[in-house]
Amino acid sequence: MNQSDCVVGLGLESSCDETSAAVVIDGKKIASNIIFSQVELHSEYYGVVPEIASRAHLEKINSLIEMSLDESGITFSDLDYVGATNRPGLIGSLLIAVQSAKAISFALGIPLIGVNHLEAHLYAPFLEGNEPNYPYIGLLVSGGNTALYKIDGPAKMELIGKTVDDAAGEAFDKVSKYIGLGYPGGPLVEDLAKKARIKKNLFPKILTDPYDTRFSYSGLKTAVVNYISKNPDHDKSEIVYSFQERALEFLVRRMFTAARRSGIKRMIVAGGVAANGRLRELIELEKRVDEEILIPSPKLCTDNAAMIAGISYQYYIQKNFDSFKLDVNSKA
Ligand code: KG4
Repeated sequence: MNQSDCVVGLGLESSCDETSAAVVIDGKKIASNIIFSQVELHSEYYGVVPEIASRAHLEKINSLIEMSLDESGITFSDLDYVGATNRPGLIGSLLIAVQSAKAISFALGIPLIGVNHLEAHLYAPFLEGNEPNYPYIGLLVSGGNTALYKIDGPAKMELIGKTVDDAAGEAFDKVSKYIGLGYPGGPLVEDLAKKARIKKNLFPKILTDPYDTRFSYSGLKTAVVNYISKNPDHDKSEIVYSFQERALEFLVRRMFTAARRSGIKRMIVAGGVAANGRLRELIELEKRVDEEILIPSPKLCTDNAAMIAGISYQYYIQKNFDSFKLDVNSKA
């Protein structure tokens, strides 16, 4: 522990298309959270190109670490631990943060902590003034994952259900690509849906059996593509409105069903899709007065290293450290 009796952690993130370095104090106060988004490098391909991603992470990571230390007024010698996402993600990309963290850990003699990126997303609300009060039902919705968990504490996540095909964010990205809106598709689809004048259900509800805990998005995506090819002149804002309603209603339904069935009244929604304003509205409409829903602010919904430093703190206080054999894994 450093002189001020605070625990100071550095977090590193490079699992997909954001490079990020952050300094977090005591697992709850963000001192800096520097994010470099590679969106412009990948947009012409409508998706992340792994080789481009890992090269860009490598080029950026050192300067981002320096920037995050400068902005927080912290020096290397103040650091108590270094945490990095080591799973899930693109292998070549994950390696950049993990190898950098190993070098820092070795040079400074501080603990190294490898982090599950999905668990880190679900920790984000605790960096904005909320004290953890387990258990929670956690809904993780991003471009690569859509899953529901029961969370009993750090490193205690039980999977309730996950997507059997596409992730929710991936469906937004693919619909956006099909219409020619751009990448990433989520915010563009959300903006276009706001312009819909006629708000009709064009697509059926997804997996309506209330005892089914799985998610699925490829059927809805195919329904949208088929509808557009049969109705090329139909207003696109009305089509994406209906797509978005079905995609989001499904998430809300699954989360509240899991919570109410298990008697848990606290829920966390995290990941890139949690930035969607309509999702927040639908959750607010469904929420009962005795239920509490934590959703991070949009900047903490998408990939960032503050959430990595935050969850790493929980491992740090449990003395749950990794050795230099820490490896990367494409799966969680
Ligand atoms: O968590 P994230 O930054 O990266 C990973 O996938 O790990 O999430 C990115 C995903 C993309 O699929 C993007 O289209 C989606 O989150 N997204 C949204 C919104 N903002 C980002 N989806 C729906 N509405 C949004 N406003």
